[in-house]
Parts: sequence; structure tokens; C-alpha cells
Amino acid sequence: MSTLYQRNFLRLLDFKDSEIQYLINLSSKLKKLKKNGKEIQHLRKKNIVLIFEKESTRTRCAFEVAAFDQGANVTYLGPGNSHLGYKESIADTAKVLSRMYHGIEYRGHNHNIINILAKCSTVPVWNGLTNQFHPTQILADLLTMQETLNEKNLRKISCAYVGDANNNISNTMLEAAAITGLNLRLVAPKKYWPDNQFFSQCQSISKEKKSTILCTENIEEGVKNVDFIYTDVWVSMGEPDKLWIDRIQLLKKYQVNENMIQLTKNKNVKILHCLPAFHDKNTILGKKILEKFNLYSGIEITHSIFEKNSSTIFEQSENRLHTIKAIMIATLIKNNCSF
Ligand code: CP
Ligand code: NVA
Repeated sequence: MSTLYQRNFLRLLDFKDSEIQYLINLSSKLKKLKKNGKEIQHLRKKNIVLIFEKESTRTRCAFEVAAFDQGANVTYLGPGNSHLGYKESIADTAKVLSRMYHGIEYRGHNHNIINILAKCSTVPVWNGLTNQFHPTQILADLLTMQETLNEKNLRKISCAYVGDANNNISNTMLEAAAITGLNLRLVAPKKYWPDNQFFSQCQSISKEKKSTILCTENIEEGVKNVDFIYTDVWVSMGEPDKLWIDRIQLLKKYQVNENMIQLTKNKNVKILHCLPAFHDKNTILGKKILEKFNLYSGIEITHSIFEKNSSTIFEQSENRLHTIKAIMIATLIKNNCSF
């Protein structure tokens, strides 16, 4: 029987290696079943509420489509759509929603909010992104890495995460590496390294797995021989626009471009991006930033590298659906091990 039944999904450090791998395997099975038109609905009569205090394309759609595919019903509460936090406390909201729904997804700001929501809720709470962690994204990325290399053992995979290494994606990659044994190098200027205490905690967990977790400012050392380079936006949702100046100055060396690809010395290296990405001028914000800072072909990643790797990057997006479906089934259905 799965140990995941009725559990929250708040951050990866709450799980064992075997539980993460179980979720990846379940996602993979569900992906195949859907593609073969053989999906069975396990979530009929389940009601799911999706709370989004920040905008989203992938996470919201993945939760909704996963619920629709599985026969569940969904309520979407966008920014300002409920009393949460303004007229009604997080604790009271959790108690109300627990009486109506079987599961609660939350995307928002400080991770403390989702901790309170989970503490006061009697149904599973799933993290759809907080300032500190984005575990549903990284689960999809682990699946994508395994599929791309046809390699089940994450200990045999290496990844360099470059750019802002003090955000929700890099933090969650660190937790993933610590638990699963994935080899991870965070490549960034010291100012954008993760919190010291958090990094040491992850590093000591990873020692048991005999995998490597390191931080370096040196790009050549950081990306040499890796299987994957992963990058994310340099200013995350909820951070003020004024941060762009400092981020661009310090991070421009860490842009994923042809030069960085050459430094990997791996002609098969693949690029990952959780998206959305600033790789061209086809967005209002991207155009504004590119023009303001005289950048030509992308911010954190160049357009040509993005296009060359788009099949892997968009596979990551699709895998959000299959992994979120696996999380909902594993936490809401008692005997999910037999699927
Ligand atoms: N990667 C990700 O979480 O995308 P959204 O912000 O579109 O949900
Ligand atoms: N670090 C990014 C991730 C987006 C999926 C953000 O929080 O905006």
C-alpha cells in the first residue's frame, strides 16, 4: 500500500527516495495509458479546489486537465477571488475548504502560508509554487530527465542549474538531488547561491547517496560533462521589477548560449527550462527588458538554443500533467499501488 495516501505535497524533502521514484513511475504509466486511450478514471466524485494567488499557465492547466481526465470536479479561485488572507484567515479558509473538497492546490507567496493551510486542512494540500519551492515542477523535470536519457537511475544523471540559484526552482532541485542522488551543480555568482544552512542540510542528506551537490561561480567547472543544463527566469513572480538591473549585471555571464554549450564538452547535452522563458521579444515584458538592457537574443537563454532544445523543454511542460495526475491519485486513492 502506498504511504502517500492522504499526505500533503508541500516540498520534496518531506519524501523518501522510493516515494519520489514511485510518483515518477506512476506518472510514466499514466502517460502511456492516456496516449493509448486506455486511461481509467480513479478520481470520479472527487472535488478539487485550485487557489492561485499568482498567475499560471502550466500548473493551472495541468491540474485542471488531470482532474478532467480522471473524472474529478474543479473550482478555480484566482487572485482576489476568495476571502483568503484579507477577510478570512488561512486557518479558517482551510477548515471551510476541507469540508467541501477532497484536495486543495495552492500557489502563492511565502511557504509559511501553505504550511498553515496544510496544518489546518483535513485533506491533502498540494504546492503549486511558493516563493521557496516548486515541487510539482521538479517532479516533472525528473521524469523528463529519465525519459530523455532512458535512464531510470537518477544517480547516473548530472545537471547544472545556472542563473538565479536562490529561487524556488533551484531550491527544489537541491532537495530533489539530496533525496534521489541526482548529481547537481548550482552555477551562479555567490550572491545568488542558496541559503547556507539549507544548502548544508541538503548536502549532508546527499552524502548518504554518494552523489555530488555543489555550488560554483565557475561556469567551465560547473557545466563540464553534464547531461543537462537547467535555467529559469532571473526575476521570479512577485519580485519587484527594480531587481532586473542587478540580476542582469551579475547573471549575464550565466546566460545559456552557444558558448556555454561548448563548455559542457558534451555534444548531446540537453537544456531544461520550467517556462515561461525570455528567449525572444514576443512578450511584453521580455521586449521591454531586452530593449532596456540592449540584449539581443534572449535573457536567461538565447533564442537559438531555446529552439534547438524545444522538444525537451515542451516535454517538461507536458509532463506537468502526468506528474500532477500521479500526485492527486497517490494522495487521494487508498490502494493506488496496484495501478
Ligand atoms: N512552470 C510553471 O509553473 O509554469 P506556470 O507559471 O505557467 O504554471
Ligand atoms: N522561479 C519562477 C518559476 C516559474 C515557474 C517564478 O517563481 O516565477
